[in-house]
Amino acid sequence: MSNPSLLILAGDGIGPEVMDEVKRVISWFGDKRDLAFDVSEDLVGGAAYDAHGVPLHDDTMAKAQEVDAVLLGAVGGPKYDDLDFSVKPERGLLRLRKEMDLFANLRPAQCFDALADFSSLKKDIVAGLDIMIVRELTSGVYFGEPRGIHMEDNMRVGVNTQRYTEAEIERAARAAFELARKRSNKLCSMEKANVMESGILWRDVVNEVHQADYADVELSHMYADNGAMQLVRAPKQFDVILTDNLFGDILSDCAAMLTGSLGMLPSASLGLPMANGRPKAMYEPVHGSAPDITGQGKANPIACILSFAMALRYSFDQGAEADRLEAAIEKVLADGARTGDLMGPEGGTPLSTTQMGDVILEALDASL
Ligand code: IPM
Ligand code: MG
Repeated sequence: MSNPSLLILAGDGIGPEVMDEVKRVISWFGDKRDLAFDVSEDLVGGAAYDAHGVPLHDDTMAKAQEVDAVLLGAVGGPKYDDLDFSVKPERGLLRLRKEMDLFANLRPAQCFDALADFSSLKKDIVAGLDIMIVRELTSGVYFGEPRGIHMEDNMRVGVNTQRYTEAEIERAARAAFELARKRSNKLCSMEKANVMESGILWRDVVNEVHQADYADVELSHMYADNGAMQLVRAPKQFDVILTDNLFGDILSDCAAMLTGSLGMLPSASLGLPMANGRPKAMYEPVHGSAPDITGQGKANPIACILSFAMALRYSFDQGAEADRLEAAIEKVLADGARTGDLMGPEGGTPLSTTQMGDVILEALDASL
């Protein structure tokens, strides 16, 4: 049997630097755990634009459709700010999400004990935090038509459309209910049913799916603005949060910061099962390309490495190996390993990106 296949799209900014550490971790699993992957690499975002004039080449898109999972680094950077909207680096990422139909975006926000002091919130509010945001990723205002900027009465008008079909809401809801069952059996759905018809439909469909197939899961609803407030007031009241594409973008950044650093958070974007039973999947850190620290060896590779742990769990059914990798990261943090983004006011010498990779590999060795 051939090895499972991975396509690495390191992208821009710190993407390639953090992905270098992920590659070492992937090799470690091949060498030490007999879990070898066939890894190929290609370009996305500004890197693809520089090479091909588009943020995602059709050949790359085709490859992404064929592999068992895509690992993405980050896209974007100031160099590309003035490009036409249609070829901006972000369009490459959005095309991957849309064409692979990755409708369920899982964004865990977990506060590592060793880092509870780094949160901008009080330690007791975030210590032990472990929530999962399920963000609908292929529809809503990100993709709705009509859209654009046009003239009306000699004035420019910008238009985007929030649009959800019941089928789109239903499949995202099912993904969230299934996850809730594997966790604390608790789901909170967030929309703005007080002002948006799409929010009313969202709430109705979530209730229908709940009654039909998931009555055992404790379901609540919240307006998304209140949800944002509750996330910073008392985040531990939540377990799984289900929300749409735009609210999910915002709420997940908010949840991410509860944990102390954006450099810690992975994500999984999952679609329908392929012929081999594995879901279409892409894994990426929640952080961006961080142009301010690019090329300095300062970036924290943990979010990207944790994204590979999610791949082990959700694409390759290797939950125990994902646990091993997550435990190794927890261990190095508990031992005081810190990249620059994790330095407290007391200071000290931060580890470089590669040094963080080194200690994680050592912790993996020690786990054998
Ligand atoms: C994210 C990012 C993207 C989004 C950008 C880069 C297009 O903010 O993944 O959260 O808005 O979805
Ligand atoms: Mg975002």
